[in-house]
This record gives sequence, C-alpha cells and structure tokens, in this order.
Amino acid sequence: MDLKSELEKRRKIFEKELQKYLQEQEPKVLYDAVKHLPLSGGKRLRPILSIISCEAVGGKIEDVMPFAVSLELIHNFTLVHDDIMDKSTLRRNIETVHIKFGEPTAIIAGDTLFAKAFEVLHNIKTKEAIEIAFKLSKCVKEICEGQQMDMEFEKRKIVSEEEYLKMIGKKTASLFKFSTEGGAVVGGGSDGEIKALSSYGWNLGLAFQIRDDYLDIHGEENILGKDVGNDIRNGKKTILVVHAIKVAKGDDKKKLLSILGKRDATDKEIKEVFEILLRTGSISYAENLAKGYYKEACKSLEMLRDSPQKELLKEIARYSIERKK
Ligand code: IPE
Ligand code: IPE
Ligand code: MG
Ligand code: MG
Ligand code: MG
Repeated sequence: MDLKSELEKRRKIFEKELQKYLQEQEPKVLYDAVKHLPLSGGKRLRPILSIISCEAVGGKIEDVMPFAVSLELIHNFTLVHDDIMDKSTLRRNIETVHIKFGEPTAIIAGDTLFAKAFEVLHNIKTKEAIEIAFKLSKCVKEICEGQQMDMEFEKRKIVSEEEYLKMIGKKTASLFKFSTEGGAVVGGGSDGEIKALSSYGWNLGLAFQIRDDYLDIHGEENILGKDVGNDIRNGKKTILVVHAIKVAKGDDKKKLLSILGKRDATDKEIKEVFEILLRTGSISYAENLAKGYYKEACKSLEMLRDSPQKELLKEIARYSIERKK
C-alpha cells in the first residue's frame, strides 16, 4: 500500500467537498479572506484522519464528509487567529490572512470559518449529529485554553514539561483526538473502537506538535511554508526550550536566554540557539518524546480489526514524527 496515493485519493474527494461549502461572495473582501487559507492546500490531515477512522470501523466515506469539512474549517479558523497571535507572515507558502487583508478582516474571517464549521455539521445525517456538535464546541474551547496558555508561557521564564504537555494537549491534540474519535462515531464504531481511535488521535496529536516545534527551528522555510525561527523570536516554551533551559549551563544558558523572545533575532542567532539545543541534548530529547507518543498511538490501534485503514493509520503516525512539512 502506498501511503502517498492512499492519502491523495481521499484528499481529492475531500477538496471537492470543501469547495462546495465555500461559495459565498459578498462582501468580497471578507470572503476572499475566508477562502485564502482553506483553498491554498495544507496537508488536510484532520479530515483525512476522520475519513480513515470512519472507514476503519466500517463506515462510509460519504457519511463522514460534512464532519471532515467541519474539522478543516475549525482548523483553519484556529490558524488564522494563531497567525495574528504569533505574528506569523507566511503559511502554506503564502502570506498569512492578517498580512494580506489586515488584522480586523482576519479576525472576522476567522470568526466566519468558525461559524461555517457548525453550519456544515448540520448536514451530518447520522443520529449522532447533536453529540458531535456538542463535542466540537468543547474541543474548540480546549484549543482556546491551550492557545492562551501558550501565550502566557511566552512571558514566563520557567515552564515544566508537564505544563508544556498540558498546553499542547489542549491546543493541538484535542482536535486530532476529536477527528479520529468523531470519525469512528459517525462510522458507527463500537465503544471499544471509538475509545481506541480516540486514544490514537490524542497520542498522534502530541507527537505531531512536538515535531512541529522541532520544524520551527530546523525546518526548510520553502518546504515548511511557514516562517522558521518564529517560536524562538516569540519566546515560546516549546519542549526543546523547556528542556534546554533546565539543563543548559554557563555561556550556553546565558546566550539562550538572551536570544529567546528577541523579536529581531537574526537568522545567525537562531542558528546559534539550534546549536545550543543540540549540545544540551534537547533535540534528541524531543525526538524521543515524540517517538514515545508515536508508539502509544500505534498501540492504541491494536484492538481494531485488521484492515488497510489500520495500516494507513500506523503510517500516518510514523509520518507525523518524520515529516518535513
Ligand atoms: C499546523 O497544523 C498547526 C499545528 C497544530 C502545528 P498543520 O501542520 O496540520 O497545518 P496545515 O493544515 O498542513 O497547513
Ligand atoms: C498552533 O501551534 C496550534 C493551533 C491551535 C493553531 P503553532 O503556533 O505552533 O502552529 P504553527 O506552527 O503556527 O502552524
Ligand atoms: Mg501558536
Ligand atoms: Mg503559530
Ligand atoms: Mg509551530
């Protein structure tokens, strides 16, 4: 089974469906801003995961489509607002929404995407539609809590690994968990299958964000499609930094603390921080942590019946800790 072509197949079906839900035209500036990100690619990982989870428990792809679209709209809503918070200028290799359209329109465009996500859910045909909508609102609240924690940590000098994990659980893993769990619910999975896929999504989400933190300092800007070094410039307490602050000594520690949070840090300074993270073992520490969650994710799948979908989920978990974008 070829992971790329299996993902591509589902991505194509998904993209067609997504476009159907993005037809509004007026006011033009608002809807140009609304469509800017959703129609410019992205990995579509959350909708694809929901589709494969639905299939893995015997559900049909057409039944899960509104849920899949809703997930991507919520994801894009969080990205538009996240880029304002993180002062990011580039995403998916194009200008971020607030850079292109200005902050006020970006805020409203994000709000519109949020509202549209719930509008789309209305098309879920299965009897679990209300439960899904309720769980989605709870999930969005968790993302907001995680995002607030993420910003507050920028101002703090010391953040523990436990606090970091709680923060990324909320801001990132909660939506992954909801994607796989919801896919299984819509697909009519048993309680055991829903629980297994929920645990898979949660662990995958944690591994995914740890890899994201790594790519922010050591990714290739043109492959990643986002500004590299932004986390350091913003003083983010990623796992790399949390670990390094704890173990760095002497000049390394002084240098790290002097560059962390420096908005105008040069590329050379970002590179210096990366060298420090290598010396403190923080890079390999983060890699191992992500690997642990990857293994947990795969373990969660054990109780599912054997299927090509189950194998695909394992491969997606592996991809999430090895990916370059
Ligand atoms: C970015 O998510 C936000 C994080 C949770 C790290 P993705 O890396 O899935 O972004 P796209 O959708 O592929 O652009
Ligand atoms: C974002 O985390 C998680 C969201 C809920 C959007 P990041 O701020 O690290 O995501 P990127 O790196 O900008 O995509
Ligand atoms: Mg952020
Ligand atoms: Mg960001
Ligand atoms: Mg990031």
